[in-house]
This record gives sequence, C-alpha cells and structure tokens, in this order.
Amino acid sequence: MNNAHLLADQLKAKLKGFTPQTALILGSGLGSLADTIENPIIINYTDINGFPQSTVSGHQGRLICGKLGGQNVLCMQGRFHLYEGHPASVIADIIHAYKLIGVKNLIVTNAAGSLKHELKPGSLMLISDHINFSGRNPLVGINDDSIGPRFPDMSDAYNKELRLKAHRMAQKHLIELHDGVYLWVLGPNFETAAEIKAFQILGADAVGMSTVPEVIVAVQSGIKVMGVSVITNYGTGMQAQPQTHAETLTQADKATQNLQTLIQAVLEDM
Ligand code: HPA
Repeated sequence: MNNAHLLADQLKAKLKGFTPQTALILGSGLGSLADTIENPIIINYTDINGFPQSTVSGHQGRLICGKLGGQNVLCMQGRFHLYEGHPASVIADIIHAYKLIGVKNLIVTNAAGSLKHELKPGSLMLISDHINFSGRNPLVGINDDSIGPRFPDMSDAYNKELRLKAHRMAQKHLIELHDGVYLWVLGPNFETAAEIKAFQILGADAVGMSTVPEVIVAVQSGIKVMGVSVITNYGTGMQAQPQTHAETLTQADKATQNLQTLIQAVLEDM
C-alpha cells in the first residue's frame, strides 16, 4: 500500500463516515475562513502519521472538516510549501489521499505579489492559469495509474465552470475579482527586481511560492480546481518599500472578508 492509501485510511477512520466533497487549502494569513465551518471535526497534523508539520507563521497546521456553504468540506488550515524542505511527493500523497476519500473539488487560496500596476495590494485575483517556474513537480516518481495518468492534460487546470461561477458570485456580492496567471517560484526569498521584470515578460500577473504543486496533483487525479490569489504587495522594484512577510499577513487580513464571502457563495452554488 502506498502513502496516499495509508493517509486516506487514517482520515477515513478519523472522519467516521463524514465524506468531504470539497477540499480547501488556505494560504498565509487566510486561515480564518476555517473558523466559520459548522460542526467541525478538527484533526491536528501532528495526529496524522505521515503528515508533515507546518512551519510558517500564519499557517496553523490542522484539518477542519464540516459544513461550509451547505457543502461537506475538508479544510487545510496551513499548507506545506516546498521551501520548508518537504519533498514534493508529500503534496502528491496528501492530494491523492483526498481523492481516495471522495473529494471532487479543490479550492486553493494564496497570498501573492502583483506583477501588474492595475492589480493593487488588497485585491483578489481568480487564477486562470499558471506557470511552473520552480523546476519541481510533485508527480515525479512512480505513478499510481489507479489514481491518475502518468502524463496529465493541463488545458483546463483551473476549471472553466468553477471560474464562471466565481465571477457570477463575485458580481452578485459586488466583489471586484480580477483574472490572471499565477507564476510559482520555489522561494523562500522574495524575487529580485530583474526576476519580476522577467516574469512580466513571460505573461504572469502574480507571483507566489505555493498552490501550483497541489493544483498539478488535483488535476492529475480528476479533482476540479478553483484558485484565488490575495494580492498582498507589488513585486520587487514596482514599489519603493522592500517586501516583508509581515506586510503579506496585513494585506491578506484586509482582503479576507471578501474572500470568505466569495468562497462561501461558490460553495452554496455548487
Ligand atoms: N513574491 C512571492 N511570493 C509572495 C509574494 C511575492 O512578492 N507576496 C506574497 N507571496
């Protein structure tokens, strides 16, 4: 039995018949949505054998399962980044385990730096596509063909129906929602000004250190994905002040209310 099956068996035992339809992964400073989940079953990462620990401030390190927007959800309050030293395969095991316990949709959020002047700190960007600039891939290694194909198609990575739904719900709730391409860097350093210029030329709209590995695995295993970036700062060189993690958390906090409203509305409409 591989790691994904071992994780799935533990989750099933702890969830006692509760089957999540949608998984949520909440980024830096965006974990408070999980506090609104009804009848929560809380599982600390430390209580799951084979689950790594979250090491970044602003990331709590627990799974919260329950009802949100009328849906059965499994929410990761705290995610794993490859810059923490976790092997990419750990992310594959976790997402594959979600697939094995019945998850059909994945909603991912992150904090990201803007590459466009009109995409201001505090705004929300629905991810339309991504660029993997990390040189890493969570699917490297032996493939379990019973979960997903060796060479997955990525032409609809961010599910079109979910994107349309997100825009409909944003309009309904008067939330400004931009569209854009997210570029994944490994991190943990913020980019140089030259890198930001290069990423603008490549066609990216925002840059961040997460999300893409989870999305690649979800798409490979047939889970529909929706992704939202909270823009917390301009890329290096686009503004006078240098980047800090504290500023990321402050801006994430400001956009949280709109993000919560949007995700709840999408879940209610699913
Ligand atoms: N770069 C990379 N990751 C980030 C940034 C950034 O400017 N802001 C928030 N996450």
